[in-house]
Amino acid sequence: MPGGAGDDEGRGMDPEAQVHRGAAALLAANWCEAADGRWGYTRPDPFKYPDQFLWDSCMCAVAWAHVDPARARRELRSLAAAQRPDGHIGHTVFWRGPVRWNRALAYNVVRRRDPATWTIQPPLLGWAWARVHERAPDEGFRVRGVRVLGRLHAWLERERAGPDGLLGILQPDESGLDATPAYDRPLGWRAHPRPGFLLLVQANRRRRFSYRRAVAAGAFHAVDVLVNTAWALSWHGLARLGVAGAEDRAREVTAAIVRRLYDPDRGIFFPRGPGGRPLRVATWAGLAPLALPGLPEEVGRRLVGEHLLHPGRFGLPWPVPSVSADEPSFRPGDTGWPIRRYWRGPSWPFTPPFLVPGLLRLGEHGAARDLVGRLVAQAAREGFREYHDPVSGRGLGGRAFAPGAVLLDLMALTAPGRPARSG
Ligand code: GLC
Repeated sequence: MPGGAGDDEGRGMDPEAQVHRGAAALLAANWCEAADGRWGYTRPDPFKYPDQFLWDSCMCAVAWAHVDPARARRELRSLAAAQRPDGHIGHTVFWRGPVRWNRALAYNVVRRRDPATWTIQPPLLGWAWARVHERAPDEGFRVRGVRVLGRLHAWLERERAGPDGLLGILQPDESGLDATPAYDRPLGWRAHPRPGFLLLVQANRRRRFSYRRAVAAGAFHAVDVLVNTAWALSWHGLARLGVAGAEDRAREVTAAIVRRLYDPDRGIFFPRGPGGRPLRVATWAGLAPLALPGLPEEVGRRLVGEHLLHPGRFGLPWPVPSVSADEPSFRPGDTGWPIRRYWRGPSWPFTPPFLVPGLLRLGEHGAARDLVGRLVAQAAREGFREYHDPVSGRGLGGRAFAPGAVLLDLMALTAPGRPARSG
């Protein structure tokens, strides 16, 4: 299996060494770059996802920082090169040519030849930039990051932030969790990727994907937990890159997340849909604020004890399920052909980088190591799959999925003898 950790040559090696070798090979195999050096990035999967996806790229950059820091910097500089003059960086960037014909209708572009989508993805860029810089400091890279992030954050504040500083989304795929059951209720037949979803895209296309116009028109919009957690993490990253005032913004966003999105009855976070109504479906996004250094300790302890480690909820054998096992919408495997609906139960590699630092911060070192140990065993057995069944561990989706290499960072964070570091 190209780049997989479970290949024949790796048999007999210690699983961590096997994963390390497989991750490095996978990153190299999925890398692509322009002959003129204008861009270079890791394709999440060479066949399924040949374009540059924002949060995939952030995960890949953090993984590259453990293998080849120069590549990590190029990965993020490529996102920076895709920044529009107004500061926006798209969910997906089409460096290799326009979006494929068969996808153009469903993609969030205004014209097929647009160089990137007009939508957002969890804005993790500040988190990734700081992490890459911390592993291999580079002053030019730091300065570039401060500039790029300053413009990106200004765009997000201008176009997406409410009076409380929290960002809104205009489509469920902007949350990174395309078909998450959290948005089933407000979207119904227009949920991703049901046929009605195309109408939602079309309406947003007519509004040039303007969130403010979508809100004014009374169209679907939401305040998403994961997007806002990434937003706070990006501010923390900017602070670690040396920007005065960024730490205060991170704390303010964290406080607003707790105030507006935490449900003290259930001990988990829920997004708010149109009209500000809480959408009470327990998905892993409801645990993502664990990543935030400013999260009140008692909130973190409830997330861990009542949800993450609870065997009837998220504490399944092959972590971390994308939906709590006690939700009626939970499906541990694929939802079936022809419409495969993502993020409705299976475990994805994007999840643990939010949760492991939170466990470490709470002093739950055993739980953090156990979680990473299971991911290592899973990757050693199945290779770097796009997602996997949290009950059987069976690998699903793309077969050479580069964001999974972020496991290198989690292995380093939980290595015995390492002091707990915050995310
Ligand atoms: C799916 C995921 C999205 C990810 C993309 C590429 O669309 O839902 O989060 O960025 O695949 O991996």
